[in-house]
Amino acid sequence: MTILETDRLLVRTWMPGDAEAATRIYGDAQVMRFIPVGVMTRPQIVAMIARMSDEHERRGFGLWPVTCKTTGRLIGECGLHVLPETGEVEIGWLYERASWGRGYATEAARAVLAFAFDVVRLARVVALIDSRNLASISVAHRLAMRYERDGRYYDRDLGVYAKEIA
Ligand SMILES: CC(C)(COP(=O)(O)OP(=O)(O)OC[C@H]1O[C@@H](n2cnc3c(N)ncnc32)[C@H](O)[C@@H]1OP(=O)(O)O)[C@@H](O)C(=O)NCCC(=O)NCCS
Repeated sequence: MTILETDRLLVRTWMPGDAEAATRIYGDAQVMRFIPVGVMTRPQIVAMIARMSDEHERRGFGLWPVTCKTTGRLIGECGLHVLPETGEVEIGWLYERASWGRGYATEAARAVLAFAFDVVRLARVVALIDSRNLASISVAHRLAMRYERDGRYYDRDLGVYAKEIA
């Protein structure tokens, strides 16, 4: 099911055949460098897709796959996730290396943020970013998410970037 459409991308729900493409992405050490869980194995990825699908079923939002409209290729993930510890809603983005540097992460995240505020009616969304992850910090800045503080999440010290409804 399509959730969001942008100029170049579709954000949709997970489908049975996605594990293969997802393994190419979550199995890449460079992609996973700043992701607390690190490089994932195929069984871990299959279990994670099930959890992400389950969150979507329960809440109507989750972390979704992002595909290229022209090719149908699964290039990454973007979406919303409720942090169990605090109840805050986090926006996440993660893409295959071949798709970096094209503006895809910002394009999808902009649509996801609009969904968060206009459809889910959230008042605030956070992004949690390792201070060394400059590419991700740039995405947050492009989305006008503002640095608030460092916080302890996923057993790591991460920068908290936030955007609140205008
Ligand atoms: C973080 C991550 C998503 C950023 O990806 P990205 O491609 O740099 O970010 P964007 O999609 O916003 O692209 C911006 C870049 O594309 C370029 N670009 C090219 N064509 C563009 C277009 N049509 N529109 C916008 N930007 C374009 C921009 O100039 C910019 O490059 P620059 O940073 O060298 O100036 C990516 O590095 C990644 O997946 N990392 C691994 C996972 C990860 O760490 N996730 C974040 C966890 S907090």
